[in-house]
Amino acid sequence: MRNPITLDVEFVRHHFPGLNDWAFFENAGGTFVPRSVIDRILRYMTETQVQPGGDYTASILATERIAESQRLMAEMINAAPEEIVIGPSSTMNVYVLSHALRPWFKPGDELVVTNLDHETNIGAWRRLTELGVVIKEWQLDAGTAELEVERLAALLTERTQLVCFTSCSNITGAIHDVRAITRLVHDAGALACVDAVAYAPHRPLDVRALDVDFCIFSTYKLYGPHLAILYGKREHLLEAHGQNHFFIGERDIPLKLNPGGVNHELTAALAGITDYFDTIYGHHFPDKSAERHQRVVDVFELIANHEEVLAARFVDFLNTKSNVRLIGRATADKARRAPIFSFAVAGRDSGELPGRLAKQRVAIRSGHFYAARCIEALDLASQNGVVRASMVHYNTLGEVDRLIARLDEAL
Ligand SMILES: Cc1ncc(COP(=O)(O)O)c(C=O)c1O
Repeated sequence: MRNPITLDVEFVRHHFPGLNDWAFFENAGGTFVPRSVIDRILRYMTETQVQPGGDYTASILATERIAESQRLMAEMINAAPEEIVIGPSSTMNVYVLSHALRPWFKPGDELVVTNLDHETNIGAWRRLTELGVVIKEWQLDAGTAELEVERLAALLTERTQLVCFTSCSNITGAIHDVRAITRLVHDAGALACVDAVAYAPHRPLDVRALDVDFCIFSTYKLYGPHLAILYGKREHLLEAHGQNHFFIGERDIPLKLNPGGVNHELTAALAGITDYFDTIYGHHFPDKSAERHQRVVDVFELIANHEEVLAARFVDFLNTKSNVRLIGRATADKARRAPIFSFAVAGRDSGELPGRLAKQRVAIRSGHFYAARCIEALDLASQNGVVRASMVHYNTLGEVDRLIARLDEAL
């Protein structure tokens, strides 16, 4: 049953100082941040911009602030703090992880990557062919832009060590059944590495329930600072080969997988994301005793319901346009998609539209969005990729109507 409480979008928008009279639909590129995140950066840099780990007051406080963010991010996705590696980007986190796992692989071992994913969860793994590892590609269906699980099943062998896939495509917005895919991967004796970058701003992550081995997401797309998080099951992180200085021990997780350490002020500001979720929770729900992860789940339910309303309006519009090819699922169903919409217009270069709409203060974008293999497989490279309009919960129906009106003129 649908939650009777609906998201108070006006209240939500009030927390984002970056929102203005632009109708902003480039959220899959990066979201605006609530004031709580900005305040945390400001507070850290004003009061505690010293080296953490010392015995003086500012340093003690700096250490506490960084540790607090580590703990809160872990609680948000139902992980333990030491299972969370905070790095500069998801791309860098996967790069480091792929190096950390090198000793696990022997020549002839097989890794599966998709051609739907953002290159982050493909390229670093493909480089392991240097070790004699065999890369198999789980190919999307070029007609539907879907990853069919049967195709993955046909690729799995007793030599498969790792399967890398996305929980939500940054092109199609399709949400995948990560739990079911992970079960299939585990049954084949392999591990699952999931890119949740496009998923995390829209739906709650519970890495334990999903039982994934590794999972990545970028906090600058989750209303936070420009950082990213790599989750790894504790036993895997312990077994992975340390990538930090030689004196950082193999049992020292997550530090051994964090060459250079964390960015202090931005890490401290991650707690501003959970501050924001707490505020949204407190505004909508009377029960103040719920655990953090449950509070996050409850807030995301409101978010998903609101996003579904926005998505329905946009899908209905696209369906009326015979010259538009929507890539992927023509549905607003919140269980099946996030409100990330990519489309191509017959006979038109995808690069034309964003500049035209920007003149009317509507922000969208075009290109391959680093999912270049997907664009190639869909035969859209010659059109310069897709036009993408991506929504999050701070978008309003009024903004979607502006997007529709401007597109209607332009198409
Ligand atoms: C699905 C997906 N994965 C990975 C990335 C890369 O994230 P980062 O910029 O943190 O490396 C992006 C960025 O757009 C993305 O959309």
